[in-house]
Amino acid sequence: MKLLLFLITIATVGSQNPDECPFMCTCTQDKKVICKGLDRFPVGLPDDMKDIVFDVSSFNNFGKNSFQTFKNLKTISFINSNFTSINPCSISDLSNLTKLELSNVRIDQIETHGFSHLSQIKEIVMRKVLVQRLHKYAFNNIKHVDKFVMEIFTAGNMENFVFHDWLNMRLVQLNKFQVLYMKSIPFKNFDAIDQFEITECTFPSPMCGLKDILRNPSVKKIKLHENAIDCSCNTKWIFEVGRSAKDFRLVNNTCSLNSPSQLATREVLSINKNLFCKTDEVPTCGDGTYKTRTPSCQEFPNESHNAGTHRHVHMYTLCIVAVLSVASKLKG
Ligand SMILES: *[C@@H]1O[C@H](CO)[C@@H](O)[C@H](O)[C@H]1NC(C)=O
Ligand SMILES: *[C@@H]1O[C@H](CO)[C@@H](O)[C@H](O)[C@H]1NC(C)=O
Ligand SMILES: *[C@@H]1O[C@H](CO)[C@@H](O)[C@H](O)[C@H]1NC(C)=O
Ligand SMILES: *[C@@H]1O[C@H](CO)[C@@H](O)[C@H](O)[C@H]1NC(C)=O
Repeated sequence: MKLLLFLITIATVGSQNPDECPFMCTCTQDKKVICKGLDRFPVGLPDDMKDIVFDVSSFNNFGKNSFQTFKNLKTISFINSNFTSINPCSISDLSNLTKLELSNVRIDQIETHGFSHLSQIKEIVMRKVLVQRLHKYAFNNIKHVDKFVMEIFTAGNMENFVFHDWLNMRLVQLNKFQVLYMKSIPFKNFDAIDQFEITECTFPSPMCGLKDILRNPSVKKIKLHENAIDCSCNTKWIFEVGRSAKDFRLVNNTCSLNSPSQLATREVLSINKNLFCKTDEVPTCGDGTYKTRTPSCQEFPNESHNAGTHRHVHMYTLCIVAVLSVASKLKG
């Protein structure tokens, strides 16, 4: 009887082999992993997994390059989850990934290079995301992505250059992106984007950063539809660029409540641009010569990752069980 119990114990422990599936996760035959109710990045994920879903999880910290060892990874989804912080280079260098999805996610802060060095991904979709603070270069160095969508995205506080260094993208869509406080240069260093659409967004700042995108001839098509824009001295450029750009559509945008009171809520194209200046306003849209070097991901300190610990504990348990089992056999 005792022996049987020990054999069962061995069988149970053995089936939780670290190559199989971590606690709170389900791993399927087709290499999909679904984890639910986690409070940290799991250890012991299968090296060959293709898809991973984190559902109803709450992460205190998200380490640098957590996904690097999973070379076959095609999709990553975070749904119904919370993060205190997306640390530098947390979601970065995933060149084989085809889809990254965040849906119904709350994040206290996305730090510099939180999402960075992402290239060749077909789709990055962030829907129903609430972020309290977006640091400089939060979305940095994103290239060759077919579709980048941020929809129903709310940001409390946004620094300058949050969107930085984007190149060769087919479609960038910001839809219902709402910011409460922001600096005026959210966008910096954009090149070769086929289509850039900003619809139903609220920006309480003159959006000087858009100037670079609009003036850049390699950004082919730009759509600004139904946005609330801060109409001030610093927004005059929109008209100038609007006249010269080849495919620039400025439709149904209204002046936001941050605008001089006589302009607020009026259709942007209907107002007389001479009315734009608040008397006490100091223009802040320079010509965009900001020379700030962005550090590479390698320059950020590595997170201490104890992926090995779990395995050690596991081996230790197995040993004890084996010893006990042998002892019991000898006794019996
Ligand atoms: C995430 O945060 C929200 C708001 O604080 C809370 O209602 C929700 O339960 C949290 N979700 C998880 C998975 O912790
Ligand atoms: C992408 O896949 C290739 C081939 O499977 C592999 O050699 C490479 O290391 C992978 N890259 C990353 C960043 O995982
Ligand atoms: C602009 O707004 C008007 C009135 O609300 C509407 O009829 C029209 O379809 C809108 N145009 C676009 C392109 O959204
Ligand atoms: C971080 O880890 C990588 C490899 O995992 C290593 O090449 C690099 O030197 C490390 N960087 C630091 C600052 O320790």
